[in-house]
Amino acid sequence: NNQIRVLGIETSCDETSVAVVEAGTRIRSNIVSSQIDVHQKFGGVVPEVASRRHVERMTIIIEKALAEARIDMQDIDAIAVTQGPGLVGALLIGVTAAKSLSYATGIPLVGVHHIAGHIYANHLIQPLTFPLVALVVSGGHTELIYMEKHNQYQRLGKTRDDAAGEAFDKVARLLNLPYPGGPQIDRLAVHGSPTYDLPRAWLGSNSLDFSFSGLKSAVMNLIHNARQREEELVTANIAASFQQAVLDVLIEKTMLVVKQTGVKNLLLAGGVSANTGLRVGLQKRAADGHIHLHIPPLELCTDNAAMIAAAGTYQYLAKDFAGLDMNAEPNLAL
Ligand code: KG4
Ligand code: ZN
Repeated sequence: NNQIRVLGIETSCDETSVAVVEAGTRIRSNIVSSQIDVHQKFGGVVPEVASRRHVERMTIIIEKALAEARIDMQDIDAIAVTQGPGLVGALLIGVTAAKSLSYATGIPLVGVHHIAGHIYANHLIQPLTFPLVALVVSGGHTELIYMEKHNQYQRLGKTRDDAAGEAFDKVARLLNLPYPGGPQIDRLAVHGSPTYDLPRAWLGSNSLDFSFSGLKSAVMNLIHNARQREEELVTANIAASFQQAVLDVLIEKTMLVVKQTGVKNLLLAGGVSANTGLRVGLQKRAADGHIHLHIPPLELCTDNAAMIAAAGTYQYLAKDFAGLDMNAEPNLAL
């Protein structure tokens, strides 16, 4: 197990990434080619453009990842690829590349769930300790996951509409901030105060589900009404108010799950875990409750292939292989 080398491939959204991970924990290489520049002028990810860019970059990035790891293809034990969820056209490029490589080399293939990857990003820093609860917050997901052991996921809560990151991006757009909006709001919020009264969707006192579309509408109304009354709004304060509303719900529900399950290990994962307010807020609550909080470094919070290779390593060990008939699954269940 100590020598298993997995090649990871991730193309679910707008990053083309290939990595080599050893023993499920050691990153030998993790090449991430971001497409933010090409999508920025459209204010969001354009699926067609993303697929085309993945095709252009894929072969070069595979070669780069192997070269940087100083490992030949024949010394790879498994090829792990994000099977879903994500943009179908984008996923297909990674899945097709992985299947072709597997077919040409005979190296076993593993299909990885994108959320499993985000959770295993933590494993690259410190081995996962079970049982654990993970709050996965990204542009496509807001989920509370309970894990008792490797490869076993129990979803306890999810968003009913927008994902947390999606809400950040949409509100940023309302504020005329560039894509992706999360980091922009984060930066502005630091300089603002939560002076505007915005709703928190609790969905009932014991619900572990999330909803962010009402909050987004509330921000829209706030801006609209101010414009009609010709009132000045302070953008930094809107950012701070919105962010606080999101974080209050995320943190409260996460701590409720921690309490209900009695776990001592809490993981934060996904692009939104880069958020300063969330990191600080959750850290404080975790410390108060004597809970170990694990947060990946920023570069492992956003989409990357090392996390896919790490999750794929445990599927490989469990002999959870995929056939060459594997397909990209835009709505893959965990
Ligand atoms: O995990 P990720 O790279 O891609 C998905 O799987 O969706 O997450 C991207 C999301 C975007 O919505 C982005 O705005 C958000 O993560 N994000 C942030 C921050 N950095 C990235 N949201 C809030 N605060 C941040 N600092
Ligand atoms: Zn992601």
